[in-house]
Amino acid sequence: MPHQEPSQHDHGQPLSGRTREGRRSAERAWTLILVGLVLLVGVLSYVWLGPAAAPSRPRSTVAELTPSRVPLVTGSEPMEQLFIKAGCPVCHSIPGIPGAQGRVGPRLVLGSTGPIRLADPRYRGKGKTVREYVIESILDPGAYVVPGYPDRAMPRWYGQKLSAEALDKMAVYLEQLTDEPASPRR
Ligand code: HEC
Repeated sequence: MPHQEPSQHDHGQPLSGRTREGRRSAERAWTLILVGLVLLVGVLSYVWLGPAAAPSRPRSTVAELTPSRVPLVTGSEPMEQLFIKAGCPVCHSIPGIPGAQGRVGPRLVLGSTGPIRLADPRYRGKGKTVREYVIESILDPGAYVVPGYPDRAMPRWYGQKLSAEALDKMAVYLEQLTDEPASPRR
């Protein structure tokens, strides 16, 4: 018995030591795999969601109006389709255009507001008439930022999406809109 005890002990110790070591290295391997997986998921979700989520944070619905979502507007469309296709109603309220109730930009009643913009001493644009002012506002929104409204909210790429005919038709329509009851609000 006294001889057996130490021998049992001797045999037992290296064995259990070895299994404990094995268990410990297996645990270490699993921890490494888990850490690796967490890092991988983190990096992948950053790569996938990061760039897509970043620009849409400030104005989620408005930021969705990217050039790829707006088709070419040829000018042959009916008047309301010109505006709807271009996405103007997302930001502007436009009398006579169904569903145009946007509030990001000013209500488009240029017959009333156009002359006020042109007379504003802060106006530095090239427009001499309301029609020219409207076309300039669409092609180069930074030429004059309507006081009280955010700069850079209105897209700057409409020149690539609207034909000259479409632009002209829009300007002719917008320049005759007024906020007086006689406006074609119906
Ligand atoms: C994403 C929002 C947004 C969209 C889409 C948008 N606009 Fe604007 N627009 C604005 C804002 C904001 C302003 C005021 C700030 C400025 O002058 O840039 C503005 C200003 C204007 C003005 C000057 C108005 C005034 O009272 O002097 C005109 C004209 C205009 N937009 C026409 C259009 C037309 C036409 C379209 C569609 C082809 C359009 N906008 C699409 C946001 C938008």
